[in-house]
Amino acid sequence: MRTFFLTCAMLQLVTSVRGEILTAEQRHMALCLRSIIHRNFAPGQSLFVSLPSKECHGTLQRCDCLQLVNFFLEDIHQDTLWPFHVSRRDFVTLKVTEEQLRIHHNYVIFTWSEEVHGDVTGTLVTQLEELKTSVSWNPRARFFVVVTVNDARPTHLLALNICEKMWNSSRIINVVIAIPNHDDQLLHGEINVLDLYTWFPYETSICAEPTRVVLMDRCLYANNGQLSNTKHLFPNKIPNNFQGCPIRVSTSELIPYVISKTNYTDSDGNIIYRYRGLEMEYLLLLAEATNLTVLYLPPAKGDVKDTHLQQLVEVNSGISDVAIGHFPLNLILTAYADPTITIVFDTLRWYVPCPKPVARMEKVTGVYTSPVWCSIALVFILIALVFWRSANVTYSALVTELQSYRELSSCVYVVWCVSLGFPVPEMPRTARLRAIFSIFLCYCFVMGIVFQGHFISFLVSPGYHNQISNFDELLDSGLPSGKDENLDSFMRLAKYYEQDKFESYIDCSVRHKCLERLFTDGDITMLSPVADVMYVLSHIGLVQNGKLICTLDDNTFPLDISLYLTKGHPLLDVFNTVITRCTEAGLVTKYWSDLIFYNHLQHLGKSKAPSCEVCSGMYFVFSLSHLKIAFVVLVFGFMLSVIVFLAELVYHSKSYILADIRYER
Ligand SMILES: *[C@@H]1O[C@H](CO)[C@@H](O)[C@H](O)[C@H]1NC(C)=O
Ligand SMILES: *[C@@H]1O[C@H](CO)[C@@H](O)[C@H](O)[C@H]1NC(C)=O
Ligand SMILES: *[C@@H]1O[C@H](CO)[C@@H](O)[C@H](O)[C@H]1NC(C)=O
Repeated sequence: MRTFFLTCAMLQLVTSVRGEILTAEQRHMALCLRSIIHRNFAPGQSLFVSLPSKECHGTLQRCDCLQLVNFFLEDIHQDTLWPFHVSRRDFVTLKVTEEQLRIHHNYVIFTWSEEVHGDVTGTLVTQLEELKTSVSWNPRARFFVVVTVNDARPTHLLALNICEKMWNSSRIINVVIAIPNHDDQLLHGEINVLDLYTWFPYETSICAEPTRVVLMDRCLYANNGQLSNTKHLFPNKIPNNFQGCPIRVSTSELIPYVISKTNYTDSDGNIIYRYRGLEMEYLLLLAEATNLTVLYLPPAKGDVKDTHLQQLVEVNSGISDVAIGHFPLNLILTAYADPTITIVFDTLRWYVPCPKPVARMEKVTGVYTSPVWCSIALVFILIALVFWRSANVTYSALVTELQSYRELSSCVYVVWCVSLGFPVPEMPRTARLRAIFSIFLCYCFVMGIVFQGHFISFLVSPGYHNQISNFDELLDSGLPSGKDENLDSFMRLAKYYEQDKFESYIDCSVRHKCLERLFTDGDITMLSPVADVMYVLSHIGLVQNGKLICTLDDNTFPLDISLYLTKGHPLLDVFNTVITRCTEAGLVTKYWSDLIFYNHLQHLGKSKAPSCEVCSGMYFVFSLSHLKIAFVVLVFGFMLSVIVFLAELVYHSKSYILADIRYER
C-alpha cells in the first residue's frame, strides 16, 4: 500500500518536473531538510508528506517547488527506506485502507503560495483542512512546515502567522517552521539561510495563544546542510507549573457528578461559580497540582441533553477547554472532542424492588400445597366411611362392633379425634376395624410430624417471596418502569431497546426522586448508574444493604465517564497523567466516600427505612399473634357450637309448642 502511494505521488511529480535540474539553492535546502528529518524524527516511523495541489508562484524568482519535493522524497527514501504517505489535494483516495486508519505521528507539510500574489498561510490552511478530514489525523503529532518560497515578509512574522493559524484551526503546538531567509542573500541573489522557528505555549500571561516565535536554529547552506547547534527541535512544551493560566470549563450542575456550591458576583459584576462533585474533583486536583486557574462558563439551561449539546459545542468551537458533566466515553462524541481516560468506572443496572418477607400465617397454610390439603380431607372422609361400613358388616356372631362405630356421625368424630392426636372414648373391638384404625393412626402421626416440623421452622423464619432476577421475570412482574428520556435515548444510541418493552411507565425526568421512591415504596423499577444509587441512598439515610437494593443479574452495562477536551488540546496528556495519579492514590474515592458518609449522617434522622422485622435480621418475639390460626379455629368452633345450640333450642321449643297445640286439640 505504502509503495502504491509513493509510486503514484512520484509519478505525478516526475511527470511535472521531468527534465529540469535542481538549482544549487534548492539542493542546499534539500540537504538541510534531510539533516533536520534525520535528527528529529525517529527512523522507521512513517512520515506523512503533504503538498499543495498547484505549482508555486513565487514573486521573487522562478519557482519549481515540486521538483524540490520530488528530490527530497527520493533522497530520504533512498537513504533510509523511510515509509511515506504523500497527500495532494487533487489526489483522490478511493477507499479507506487499514494503513490509513493508523494514527500519524510525523507530518511534513510543504507549502507555497499557489497564486501570483497569494498568501502562503492561505494555502497552508486549506492543506490543514484537508488533513483534518482524514480518520488518521493527529494534531498532537510533530509538524514540520517547510515554506519553500517566502513572500516579502520578515521570516519571524510569517512564522508567527503560521503558528497562529495552526493553533486556531487545530490546536497544534508541536510545530517547527522552516523559512528561507531573504535578508541574508548572497551577492548574486541566492538565499543562504533556512530559519527554523517554533513557539512555546503557557510562557506569557496570554498563556496558550501564540504571541511570539522563537528562532530555534538556522541551517546555513554553506555548511552543507548542517544545523548550527544540536538542540532537539521538538522539546516538550507543556510546563509542570502553568503559573495561574486559565482553563475554561463548560459544565452545569448534575448531582452527584457536578454539585453547585456558592455563586457570587465579583467586583467587576461577573458571576463566579463554584462546583464540587465526583467528576469536578479531578479538575480541582489537576488545577491545584499544575497551578491552573479554573474559569467556569455560565451553565447552560435545559435538561441534560440540552446542556450536553451546548457544552460539546463550546468545547468543539474552542470557547472552552474542557466539558465536564457525566459524558460517557463514546465513539460518537470522540468525533467532536478528545476524551481523557476514564475517570468514573460505573455500571448501569436495572434496580428492582427487593423480595418482601412472607407473612407468617400465609406460610402456615402453605406447608402443604392445596392438592395435598384436599387429599388429606378426602382421606378423612373416606376413612370415616370405611369405619362405618366395616362396623356394620357382621362377619362373626361372637364379636360385634361397638355402637359408637356403627353410626356415621360418631365415626367422623373418631377420625377428627385421631387426626388431632386426641384419645378416642373407646377402641374398636373387631380385628378388621382395629387394623384399619392403627394404619390411620400411623398416617396421622406422620402427617402431624411433618406439619409440626414445617410450622416451627416457619415461625422462626418465614423466608421471602421470589426475587426478580432476570429481565423476563421483571417484564412478567408488571412493575412500571421509571422513564428517563435522556438515559433512554443514550441507550438507544448504544442499540439497546429493552427499556421500551414495559407495559406501563412513570415519568422519571427527576431521576433521584424516582430512585428514592424505588427504595422506600418499592413499586417501580429503573435503569440507573451505581453512583446515583449510592448518592440517593445516603440522602434518605440508608446504606447499601443487600436487603434493600436488588438488581437484575443480566442486562448490566459498564458505563465509563470521561472529560472531553477541545480536539487536539495540548493539555490532554497532563489530564491523563493527573487522572491516573488520582485514581491510583484514591484521592477522588476518598472525596466520594466522605461525601456519602456525611450525607448519610446528616439524613440519618429522617431515615425512611421500610420497617420490617426480618430486614433488621434481629430476633423476633414469639407472641400470641403468631398463634392466630389456632385461635381462629377455636373461635370458629365456638361459633359453630353456638349456632348448633341455638338451632337445638329453636327445634325443641318448636316441638314443645307443637305438642301443646296437639294437647289443646
Ligand atoms: C486566532 O483566534 C483568535 C481568537 O479567536 C483571534 O483573535 C486571532 O485573530 C486568530 N488568528 C488568526 C491568525 O486567525
Ligand atoms: C501559581 O501561579 C501564580 C500566578 O502566576 C503565582 O503567583 C504562584 O506563585 C504560583 N503558585 C505556585 C505554587 O507555583
Ligand atoms: C448557581 O447558579 C446556577 C445558574 O444560575 C444555578 O443553577 C445554581 O443552582 C446556583 N447555585 C447555587 C448554590 O446557588
